[in-house]
Amino acid sequence: MLKTISSVSEWRKIMRTPPGFTGKTVGFIPTMGALHKGHMSLVSRCMKENDISVVSVFINPTQFNNSDDFSAYPKTLRKDRGLLQKAGVQYLFLPAYEELYSDDYLYKIIETDFSKKLCGTHRPGHFDGVLTIVMKLLNIIKPGRAYFGEKDYQQYVLIKNMTKAMFINTEIIPCDTVRENSGLAYSSRNSLLGSDNKKIAAEFHRTLRQNISTKEVKRKLENFGFKVDYIKDINKRRFGAAYLGKVRLIDNVKQ
Ligand code: PAF
Repeated sequence: MLKTISSVSEWRKIMRTPPGFTGKTVGFIPTMGALHKGHMSLVSRCMKENDISVVSVFINPTQFNNSDDFSAYPKTLRKDRGLLQKAGVQYLFLPAYEELYSDDYLYKIIETDFSKKLCGTHRPGHFDGVLTIVMKLLNIIKPGRAYFGEKDYQQYVLIKNMTKAMFINTEIIPCDTVRENSGLAYSSRNSLLGSDNKKIAAEFHRTLRQNISTKEVKRKLENFGFKVDYIKDINKRRFGAAYLGKVRLIDNVKQ
């Protein structure tokens, strides 16, 4: 039975009240909701590997560098709850902004190197917001393992390195990107693509995978109608971000 927890004190009470989670493993998946097959694959892995699974839904304003993007972010809480209930997840953590950011975001986690590259170059402050909220959530939930999708590979690397640097006792587990039949990576933002753009969006992954230079990839994507933020090869992985209309897509492939 899925139990919804809406405050930090409620969660701490559950952990504290005997027997709490003594002798049990706790797995955690932080999300911003609008759950899709990508999230649900993290959920099923988490449930296989842990006794207790916790999913949070919180649309984190500090990681949006554009207020229109924040307001347009899809909100599907009823459906999300149904999916989690059906999957057998035990806890849904639904915190409020006022509680998570009682300091009004005066305190932040800032990484000063990799977070300034790739998406960080185009979305200033984005990773400060991501790292800060993930640090808060890990400190609250205290999971043994937390699961992140490799579609957001830069995010995964930054979070993994943050937990190491800050001695956070949570194993950060990367999970394969889940794709639609067309190859398009599942993303909450895909629901904002119209049906015509959805077909074109499939070219993003197809083109990234081609054995051609980053310049060639950019040129091809622009011909399909994408506005490209970057295409970059780092450590045998090709990363890309591009807009299709107002929707920003990101993806990466191993080379
Ligand atoms: O990947 C996401 O959905 C978000 O960046 C995360 C990790 C839930 C933090 O808000």
